[in-house]
Amino acid sequence: MFGKLLFCVAALASAALAQDISIALPAQGTNIAAGSNFVVQVERATSSNSVEEISLVIAGLQCLGGCSGYGIGHTILYSGTFDPESTNGEGKSYQNFTVTAPNFFQGTMQLNVARFYLEGMTNFAELELADTTVTLTGGSG
Ligand SMILES: *[C@@H]1O[C@H](CO)[C@@H](O)[C@H](O)[C@H]1NC(C)=O
Repeated sequence: MFGKLLFCVAALASAALAQDISIALPAQGTNIAAGSNFVVQVERATSSNSVEEISLVIAGLQCLGGCSGYGIGHTILYSGTFDPESTNGEGKSYQNFTVTAPNFFQGTMQLNVARFYLEGMTNFAELELADTTVTLTGGSG
C-alpha cells in the first residue's frame, strides 16, 4: 500500500515536470529589431494523455540585470487560443504566431510563453511555462 502510494506520488511528480511545449523560434540569442514583426513558433510534444488546450499567452520581459523573479512580462504579445496543427520533421506539432516586438527598449528580452490546458479524463488544470531570450536592437525606425 505504501509502495503503491510512493509510486503514485512519483508518477504525479514526473507528470508535473514534463515539459510539453517549447519555443522553437526565435532561436535563443536572435537579434530582433525593436518594433518589428517576428514569428514565435511554439512546439508541443505529443502527450499520451488526452489534452484540451484552453489558452496561450506570449509576453516580453525587459531583463534589467537578470530575468528571474519577475512576471511573464510587461508586454503581452499574444493572448488567445493555442491550436498547434502544423507538424515539423520531428513529428511534433507547432503553431506560428506573428507578433510585434516592443519598441520602447533595446537589449535583452525574455520571451515567455504560458499555456493553460486541461489534461486527462478528469481534466487536471495545468499551467506550463517556457522561455527563451532574444536581443532587441535599434534600427527599425
Ligand atoms: C512557421 O514559420 C516558419 C518560420 O517563419 C516557417 O518556416 C514555416 O513554414 C511556418 N509554418 C507554417 C505552417 O506557416
